[in-house]
Amino acid sequence: MLIDAHAHLDDEAFDGDRESVMKKIREKGMIVINAGSNIETSKFSVELSQKHDFIYACVGIHPHEAAKAGQNYLETLKQLAEYERVLAIGEIGLDYHYDFCDREIQKKVFAEQLELAKELGLPVVVHDREAHRDTLEILQKSGVKKGLMHCYSASLEMAEEFMKIGFYFSFGGTITFKNASRPKQAASKLPLDKILLETDCPYLSPEPRRGKRNDPTEIETIASALAKLRGVSIEEIERATASNVRNLFGRLTLTGGRNR
Ligand code: NI
Repeated sequence: MLIDAHAHLDDEAFDGDRESVMKKIREKGMIVINAGSNIETSKFSVELSQKHDFIYACVGIHPHEAAKAGQNYLETLKQLAEYERVLAIGEIGLDYHYDFCDREIQKKVFAEQLELAKELGLPVVVHDREAHRDTLEILQKSGVKKGLMHCYSASLEMAEEFMKIGFYFSFGGTITFKNASRPKQAASKLPLDKILLETDCPYLSPEPRRGKRNDPTEIETIASALAKLRGVSIEEIERATASNVRNLFGRLTLTGGRNR
């Protein structure tokens, strides 16, 4: 079974035809883990997971949104995390590429949400863009034991450090891009039992649809790109990544969809 471990079906890019995208996903017999970016999209993620048995949710405040988190955001996230189809706290982390939010605030909101994940015993889904050192250091200090580095873009050496604290890595469209040597290297060299597939849709469509709106069914293209990079069959990628998703997200029961 193919599982998209990181998607944003709540995004306004899907407002015009969300139900037909959902139908397409259902027909493929896939599972999608949808990540919130703020309170509103976290709530929407939970709603999607209640409505569709092939959708699971993560709830969290993205670093771009950290300054707008609001006073009671931790309490709200905690309530949302009580839904059993919420698998993790995410997408949380640091983004020093865009710097849409003051770095000190990003770090504070990241650390607070790690504390919440620890309290709830949930894994985390981490966004790290050009902030590898600080991300690693904050995670090491946090005491969080399990998580996913989504759209992993740091080095193989750093991946060793993330693995020591129980982290997995997901790869998406970037492993099909010509110029993306670092993600390709990590995707081909990391142990297969640490790798997940993601689309990060509506962003990061794989080649040859780069630049167009992405959706979870593109996970097939990404799975075959990973199979090619590693010189294994697509079936092996499918089997390994599905089992990794189960190992990482303890609450995932895989009751929805078909073909399993
Ligand atoms: Ni994302």
